[in-house]
Formats: sequence, C-alpha cells, structure tokens
Amino acid sequence: MMTPAAASDLRRYNAATAHLEPPLAVLDLAAMRANAESMARRAAGKPIRVASKSVRCRAVISRVLAMDGFRGIMAYTLPEALWLAGSGLSDDILVAYPTADTVALGQLAGDAAAAAAITVMVDCAEHLDLIEKVIAGTAEPSQVRVCIDIDTSFIALGGRIRVGARRSPVRTPADAAALARDIVSRPGLRLAALMAYEGQIAGVGDNPAGRPLYGRAIRYMQRKSGAELAIRRAAIVAAVRAVAPLEFVNGGGTGSVEKTTTEAAVTEIGAGSGLYQPGLFDSYRGFSGRPAALFALPVVRRPGPGVVTALGGGYLASGAGEVQTPLLGRAADGLRIGDRVWLRHAKAGELCERFGELYLIDGDAIAATVPTYRGEGKAFL
Ligand SMILES: Cc1ncc(COP(=O)(O)O)c(C=O)c1O
Repeated sequence: MMTPAAASDLRRYNAATAHLEPPLAVLDLAAMRANAESMARRAAGKPIRVASKSVRCRAVISRVLAMDGFRGIMAYTLPEALWLAGSGLSDDILVAYPTADTVALGQLAGDAAAAAAITVMVDCAEHLDLIEKVIAGTAEPSQVRVCIDIDTSFIALGGRIRVGARRSPVRTPADAAALARDIVSRPGLRLAALMAYEGQIAGVGDNPAGRPLYGRAIRYMQRKSGAELAIRRAAIVAAVRAVAPLEFVNGGGTGSVEKTTTEAAVTEIGAGSGLYQPGLFDSYRGFSGRPAALFALPVVRRPGPGVVTALGGGYLASGAGEVQTPLLGRAADGLRIGDRVWLRHAKAGELCERFGELYLIDGDAIAATVPTYRGEGKAFL
C-alpha cells in the first residue's frame, strides 16, 4: 500500500518552508529517525552499513551513523569513498561496486589513512591484476583492502530462469575459495570481507499495490531464492574463512533486513533507502516506513478542469513528468497558480541529485539547511 504523508505533516512542511520558493526538498528528521530505528530493530543486533547511494547527503549520513545500530558506509564509487574518508565521516567504508579507476586506486594505495579505511570490491583476477599494477606504480604503497562480491541470483529450471542481477562471476564455494587464495597470494592486497547482495529479495516489493497475483509470484520466488541463498551463502563464507579470516560479511538491503539478519554467516546489513522511504519501498509486507524525504513543486498552469501543471518533477527514476508535471484528478480543481504540491521520489538516490540542499524539518520549523552531494558539487555517477 502506498503510504502518503499525512495531511498534518504536509501542513508542517508548508509552515516550515512558507518563506521559500519551490522547487525545494525537505527531510523530516523525526520520520527519518523513526525509519532508522525501525531498520535497526529489524536488523536485530547486527549493524547496518549505510548505503550512501540511497542518501547522497553527508550531513544525513553523519546523523544516521551517530544512531545506535548503524556502522560504516557502503559507498558507490572509489572517488566518493576517498572524499568521505578524507572528510573524516567514517573510517570504515566499503565500495560496493568494482572500480577500474586507476587514478583513484593510486590515491588509495598512496594514502595510508585512506587505505586503512576503505575496502574495494573485486570478483575476478582481472580486478586484482589492475590493483596490483597501480600498487606497483605507487611510491610507498599501503596494502589495499578488498572484498569479494558474490552472485546471489536465483537460477531455476537448469538455467532457463534466472532472477536477480548478474553481479559477479563468483557463485560457488569453490569459486570464492579460489579467488580468496589468489588474493592472499598477492602481498599488496588484503582480503578483508565478503559481500552478497540479494537484490531480487531486498529491492523488489513483495506486496505490489493492486497486483495480488504478481505479489504472490514475487513472494514465491523470494522464498525459493532466500532458501537457496542461505545455504549457498553459508557454504561460501565457510570456504573463504578457511582461506583467510574475514572482518565482515555484508548482505541484504532495506527490503530484506529482518530476513538477511537471521543468517549466521552474515555479520552486517547494507541499507539506505528505508531512511528516506521513497515510493518504491511502500510495497513490502515486512515493514512500512514513514515518508521522510519529499519535494515541493509550484503549480504554474491550469489547462482546464481536472488538471493543473506543476513546474519541474521530471526526475528519471521517479518519472512524474519532465520540465512540467501534469497533475490530474478532482484535487487539481482545488489548486491555484502559486500553490505548492508535495511529491515523493521513487528511488532513494535521486532526490539529492536534483536538489542542492535539503531543509531538515523538526516539528514545524527548519532545524538546518544542509547541502546534498549535488550541492557540494559532487556528481560521482
Ligand atoms: C550492494 C548493495 N547492498 C545493499 C543495497 C541496498 O540499498 P537500499 O537499502 O538503499 O535498497 C544495494 C542497493 O542497490 C546494493 O547495491
């Protein structure tokens, strides 16, 4: 079920931002904190690594890291991780996707503090070769910490059906142990961790509004995939731990926190979207977050009965409109030019790529205005 912001919340946001011109974006601190607490409860004692791609605002990441139940950052590029580490935000940053950026790898290897704080993702010997080549060209290099990424996709009917991303060539305990042995044989590298993110469970709502049969099919697939992965993930972790000790094993995402945490092999969860609770995360049975991040657009046209046009809102993943967004329905007739409408984006990372600042709302006032990654001039992807 879609969870709209309550009318009383919208009144608070209107009151807090009455002196500002939309388009503008707000983050309701109480709602965000409630979402974070709920995620931490669902994690049942295992720490949550904050997925920065879903937050994209240093001030918000910092506030979440100060809360119980959260530890470390899951970054999305190495230049981002270097920036975050350099700003002192965290000394435990996992880059969740492999990098081929030799300049950034050189900075990592050449900076002892960064190299101690950051772990990069690998899934094949080619990744290791690339890192080693950079290390060979770096004066006084530090060891580079690496994490093995596992393919978690669900394969059925002898390979005719595959559900989930083709994320990594490493799929079996034997694959993972072989890569682990290769890593430990290279003195410039240090095997620190393992990650296995099951996007087909964590990122796919199992209760899509108005589509009960599809929902049932998704739940069936997720049950099967979850059962298969739990066994395989445990075997992979055991096989890799037989080669070298691991500091952490990361899995899961906002949609699977309470499921992934039950696996003994997993030591921490990676999650971020649930903090903002964007539209795509409304359709899960296991939890319901409070809409925390919203944006306001101004009404600029009334083309006819039952339709008004808002300026802006053409956000790629959220798909409401383009340069303008038509708003249809009876409610449109109650809107005048200059009124504002509040919307929620679909995908968590998008909001802070569209707005330079977030107004942090406390009650019916702005507690702080903080720059987003975009506001800081940082467009990593
Ligand atoms: C590696 C990894 N872990 C975890 C997540 C979960 O992030 P979120 O909680 O924002 O959905 C993602 C999202 O794509 C991911 O790529």
